[in-house]
Amino acid sequence: MASVSVDEAMRRAIELAARGLGTTSPNPVVGCVLLDADGQVVGEGFHAYAGGPHAEIVALAQAGRRAKGGTAIVTLEPCDHTGRTGPCSTALVQAGVARVVIAVPDPNPVASGGAATLRSAGVQVDLGVRGEEAEAGNVAWLTSMRRGWPYVIWKYAATLDGRSAAADGTSMWITSEAARIDVHALRGTVDAVIAGVGTVLADDPRLTARNLRDGSLAIRQPLRVVVDSSGRTPVDARVRDGAARTWIATAAEVGAGKDGRVDLAALLAALHQRGVRAVLLEGGPRLAGAFLAAGLVDKIVGYVAPRLLGAGPTALVDAGVTTIAEAIDLELVDVTQVGPDLRITALPRKREG
Ligand SMILES: NC(=O)c1ccc[n+]([C@@H]2O[C@H](COP(=O)([O-])OP(=O)(O)OC[C@H]3O[C@@H](n4cnc5c(N)ncnc54)[C@H](OP(=O)(O)O)[C@@H]3O)[C@@H](O)[C@H]2O)c1
Repeated sequence: MASVSVDEAMRRAIELAARGLGTTSPNPVVGCVLLDADGQVVGEGFHAYAGGPHAEIVALAQAGRRAKGGTAIVTLEPCDHTGRTGPCSTALVQAGVARVVIAVPDPNPVASGGAATLRSAGVQVDLGVRGEEAEAGNVAWLTSMRRGWPYVIWKYAATLDGRSAAADGTSMWITSEAARIDVHALRGTVDAVIAGVGTVLADDPRLTARNLRDGSLAIRQPLRVVVDSSGRTPVDARVRDGAARTWIATAAEVGAGKDGRVDLAALLAALHQRGVRAVLLEGGPRLAGAFLAAGLVDKIVGYVAPRLLGAGPTALVDAGVTTIAEAIDLELVDVTQVGPDLRITALPRKREG
């Protein structure tokens, strides 16, 4: 078998890491490729679920004795602490690995220090190979660990003229089934889904991740969060069914902002405490406006249908913008056609000051 370069092996490790997306939280996704002393692949692994073996341990088990004198290529700094599993740094040292190549250092103060432990055991450690790519594959977890609140993706559906419902309030469905299937897949990758009480009162959504063809529930369900300052969510609302966990987040429990409504920054901090690393903000327009006005949105995924309504509520209400100079500028990162609709992915540019 031909030998593999460290760069190629890291690309493979990043691919492997992505297989864990949606199932590892509150842990990161991690991939690992082990090369023997001749540069041949002797082990591969990824972290599949929280509590399960780490990527390095899976790869080491495959490699057995062939790991000795070899190189471990990992997307994230190997952990240095004993949690539900033992430290990966020690396992790599014990297996006799000579070199460890890491894409991104671990920002989690509880688990970091793996690189230092490896170096002090005489292992060569190199950092930063394909760092940007690995960072992008783990962006929600890394962002949430660095700043202490979850990565927020605002998702909405609208017509080409930006309407989220018709003048009479009807809104089902603005976008195609293909776009809605895509949304359910997106729900399956996050830890929590957030909606405002306005949406719950208007649409009575379930907010579960489902197979739209047969209605079956995905194995892993995000926590459903209703932002509801004074507890107006009806007792028989669908979000209260037993299909997934639900948190009706009131101002009394979370804390109130100046307007007496739920303090959104405190809400995100509370979710982080519960192990939530990525959230999908599903509106509606008023709650999304408040999140954007507070600078709390990291990514926007808009599904735009090739339809026009000419009247009716808009997809976004009051995002704190009163004049064009205050417009929230976005960096477009992807445009993909989903069925007849467009899925537009964009990142809000950080505002100065
Ligand atoms: N097209 C789409 O993608 C989409 C998605 C979702 C919904 N919708 C549509 O949107 C409509 C409902 O939207 P909406 O704007 O009336 O309701 P909403 O955005 O879902 O909820 C707004 C409510 O959230 C509560 N809230 C709590 N804390 C808040 C805070 N800090 N900032 C702002 N709001 C806070 C407020 O009620 P309290 O003060 O009582 O807490 C507020 O009235 C429905 O017609 C639905 O069909 C469309």
